[in-house]
Amino acid sequence: MQKKIRAKFQELFQAEGSVFASPGRINLIGEHTDYNGGFVFPGAIDKGMIAEIKLNGTDKVRAFSVDLNSRAEFGLKESDAPSESWAKYIFGVCREIGKRGGKISGFDTVFAGDVPLGAGMSSSAALESTYAFALNELFGLGIDKFELAKIGQSTEHNYVGVKCGIMDQFASIFGKRGSLIRLDCRSLEYKYFPFNPEGYKLVLLDSVVKHELASSAYNKRRQSCETAAAAIRRRHPEVEFLRDATLEMLNETKAEISGEDFLRAKYVIEEVQRVLDVSAALERGDYETVGQKMYETHHGMSRLYEVSCPELDFLNDIARKCGVTGSRVMGGGFGGCTINLVKEEKYDAFIKEAFTAYKAKFGHEPKLYDVVISDGARQLV
Ligand code: GLA
Repeated sequence: MQKKIRAKFQELFQAEGSVFASPGRINLIGEHTDYNGGFVFPGAIDKGMIAEIKLNGTDKVRAFSVDLNSRAEFGLKESDAPSESWAKYIFGVCREIGKRGGKISGFDTVFAGDVPLGAGMSSSAALESTYAFALNELFGLGIDKFELAKIGQSTEHNYVGVKCGIMDQFASIFGKRGSLIRLDCRSLEYKYFPFNPEGYKLVLLDSVVKHELASSAYNKRRQSCETAAAAIRRRHPEVEFLRDATLEMLNETKAEISGEDFLRAKYVIEEVQRVLDVSAALERGDYETVGQKMYETHHGMSRLYEVSCPELDFLNDIARKCGVTGSRVMGGGFGGCTINLVKEEKYDAFIKEAFTAYKAKFGHEPKLYDVVISDGARQLV
């Protein structure tokens, strides 16, 4: 991939730039908890985005996406937003840096990636983190890593229209080879958990389903959580986010919020607790409990939060039938992958069954990715 990028950069700009990379992520548990001030458990993966960049001495950015074979040129003022949707991520990062007082000027860039798009592995965070990290280095801005992650998140909010939490960008920037990160999304305190469960494999099965309305449905989920948190706060002013609420507090508001908002909030309150249960289980090497919690998360995401789909529920059922230790839909949902914690001796039979049964039911096979937990944003050349 790097070779392809470098050849294209040479062809378009007759020069050589610096090369940066940022990964996508997995998340062991803690879904839709980040924007509720709760905990998450992500790790960076060995798939991501790579970009070559060189300052060009103008006030324009000239960008090329290898994967989409598309070129864009834009300025750095708010009114200069590009029309290409992929270029909005780069433009957004530049603008967000500018809003924080970072002075940047024009550059040439070519990028490509191997995080599957729409599979719930955060290809967009990988793209944002690549440019946030790279521009910080190239312009010597001295922005710290927390702020780099927030620059990516604000890009989603203000230039993409997804009111996401901080998990994906944080994992992409802070990732560490061999470790998952337990992150408190309110305080941004984090702890690395070396993750090498002996005798188990962590594998993703991609349903290859993408849902069109995923971003508006995502924002709607967030809205439900905020409505429920506000209702609880009327009785319990100390509740800033759903993370602070208990099921008892939620029950008190039952008559005041919609049935839908109630179910969404119930899922989040339970999920925040599950992340804590999983981190305790990991400390004692209890992968059976980790797996059981993953199934509980799937159930909650499917029935209460309603971000699963028939394909993902089917993959989850197969995992259960094959004796997989833990399985659940990963990421925002509405398509994408299941993440599966599976004993080595059950791996082959599970994968075979998943492929055969999925194809018989949906007419095409899922895709398989073995997870390698890797480093976060970095300069390659
Ligand atoms: C997406 C968002 C994250 C997070 C997850 C769900 O990946 O970008 O902030 O909310 O969904 O856990």
